[in-house]
Amino acid sequence: MISVKQIENVAKRAEELKRLINYHNHRYYVLDAPEVSDAEYDELMRELIDIEAAYPELITPDSPTQRVGGEPSNAFKPVRHRTKMLSLANAFSFSELAAFFNRISSELGTNEVEMVCELKIDGVAVSLDYDHGMYAGAATRGDGEVGEDITTNVKTIQSLPLRLFLDSPLDTLEVRGEAYLSKEQFKQINEERGDAGQLEFANPRNAAAGSLRQLDPKITAKRHLGIFVYALGYAAGVEFSDQWELLQYLKIAGFKVNPHIAKVGTPKEAYEFCKEWQEKRHSLPFEIDGVVIKVNSFAQQEKLGITSKAPRWAIAYKFPAEQKTTKLISVELNVGRTGALTPTAVLEPVVIAGSTVSRATLHNEDEIKRKDIRIGDTVIVQKAGDVIPEIVAPIVSKRDGSEKEFVMPRECPVCGGEVVRPEGEAVARCININCPAVIFEHLIHFASRGAMDIEGLGESVARQLLDKGMIKDVADIYYLDKEKLLSIEHFADKAAENLYNAIRKSTDRPLARVLFALGIRHVGSHVAEVLADSFNSIGKLSHATLEELIKIQEIGPKIAESIVGFFHEERNRTVLEKLHRAGVKMEQEKPKSTNYTRSFAGMTFVFTGALTLFTRDEAEGLVKSIGGKASSSVSKKTDYVVVGKNPGSKYDKAKSLGVKIITEDDFKRLISGQQERGV
Ligand code: IVH
Repeated sequence: MISVKQIENVAKRAEELKRLINYHNHRYYVLDAPEVSDAEYDELMRELIDIEAAYPELITPDSPTQRVGGEPSNAFKPVRHRTKMLSLANAFSFSELAAFFNRISSELGTNEVEMVCELKIDGVAVSLDYDHGMYAGAATRGDGEVGEDITTNVKTIQSLPLRLFLDSPLDTLEVRGEAYLSKEQFKQINEERGDAGQLEFANPRNAAAGSLRQLDPKITAKRHLGIFVYALGYAAGVEFSDQWELLQYLKIAGFKVNPHIAKVGTPKEAYEFCKEWQEKRHSLPFEIDGVVIKVNSFAQQEKLGITSKAPRWAIAYKFPAEQKTTKLISVELNVGRTGALTPTAVLEPVVIAGSTVSRATLHNEDEIKRKDIRIGDTVIVQKAGDVIPEIVAPIVSKRDGSEKEFVMPRECPVCGGEVVRPEGEAVARCININCPAVIFEHLIHFASRGAMDIEGLGESVARQLLDKGMIKDVADIYYLDKEKLLSIEHFADKAAENLYNAIRKSTDRPLARVLFALGIRHVGSHVAEVLADSFNSIGKLSHATLEELIKIQEIGPKIAESIVGFFHEERNRTVLEKLHRAGVKMEQEKPKSTNYTRSFAGMTFVFTGALTLFTRDEAEGLVKSIGGKASSSVSKKTDYVVVGKNPGSKYDKAKSLGVKIITEDDFKRLISGQQERGV
């Protein structure tokens, strides 16, 4: 007989698995940043399938086993909106705007309809809840009726008022707005992702959505999202007469309301506002994809009503993605820090979306073939908002036969070294580790702000140092004297002295920065910090095995392999030796934040069953205090499973995986041992 308790445990485990799998699904499909190997993922999936086969009543529509193709956003609790979150009907031309106006004026029986024009912010719609003037929650739009709870993530947005500036705040207020990323932030996030070897976000909207769907609000906070509010969801006990008044109220209440708004009375005036912002959009620090036109009076809005999806009193005028035709002059190959050869289209310059475009990304060889783009073609180039310009298609009818197909060379255009494209990979790489292009990019990264931060060592200086043969690798910069630096063009005494000092100063950078600067593939600034805190020394890290690395939370097989491969390379070891001799920091005394021994740093503990000596929170807090991590599920990476009374399935799982199982008393001893030693 199966006890109720056991069934409860299975149900709990099923829920946990769904959450875990959805989380990993999201990391993989949405963020393109997996944390677990395919095998580990499959293992979780198999366990859930088994449970659901034995207990079909546990199957829910949100179970990943029920997901066809993936709707990877169920990681957050569902929230039912008090009133539906609507979307908008679109207009793409003046005549569509005029048709909208004609319809509403005929339904209202008057031509005198005041409308409010607002910018259409290209971000993520959110609903914000206030309880007696205090921030009480936030949700995404979801399907309009039920969204996801993003309360803690939205709370990190600095421009969000946590307490409203109102003398007598309403009992309940729900407002709607758009969370967005500035163009500047978007660029920075993509640069960081590029450095870490992650796929870049296609546009600020995707980046904003990704930022709001982080399980760790600290990451959201680092993204510096903004928020504009523009609509009411629900307000208890207050009547607004129109949209304009509402916007003023929201502004006074402390919300960020976009200042570029206008009252208009005719479709022509509305269209002029649209045109004006279509032109000026590039001067804004954030992305807009159109203009929203709303009937101002709430009485008139009510009269017009809503359809199942959108209000009948508003319309979104969408800006067209800007396209131009031009000539593809040639294809240039850029050799990156990892030796990757990226083809770039060199175009006859054209002005698109407010800026001159003379280059466009071609991604890779397959993409060029797929689109059948040939050198000499007349091509359609598109720039949607702040996205990198791209070639949409060639105009085949304009060909005269002189066009040439692009062929990836077998030799590196910079050093003549061999170019290799491994089976199944899209990227071709120069495999010469001494390729000057690779060294150049590496040096620029090494000296960059987030790395060794060497002021004065920019592209032009780097180029000269390499061209003049003054350095062969990054470590050589520490052996340049002032005399040598004076031979750099346009370098007077002072500049040489400054650079010399900046180089010397950089030897003092913390270990994590040095690790990041080394440019190990897949080791971005965050991973570098994790590694620094786990090993405290490059020497120790260089001896770490794959198994040891994979045990560390946040280090997956891809990163681990890259690290081991890096230290295996003779040339890298020579560079490290030279850096060490030059006095660059290769160690840190203690892990940064706490005072625990390395033996517990990064170790993972899982608790199961009822604890009698501590509350769960206390136990997890203690784990943190000794530098470990508390996790909710057992895997091969778990170091200790602490069992209380009536342990659940985690206990069996730990046994089957051979994970160390300890009692609460053992745990207490372990902790006090650590604390008594005062480490
Ligand atoms: S009003 C019923 N105003 O555009 C009210 N929406 O394509 C519906 N948006 O889902 C929204 N800026 O996420 C409104 N000033 C603005 C907006 C705006 C951006 C977004 C919003 C909406 C989507 C519709």
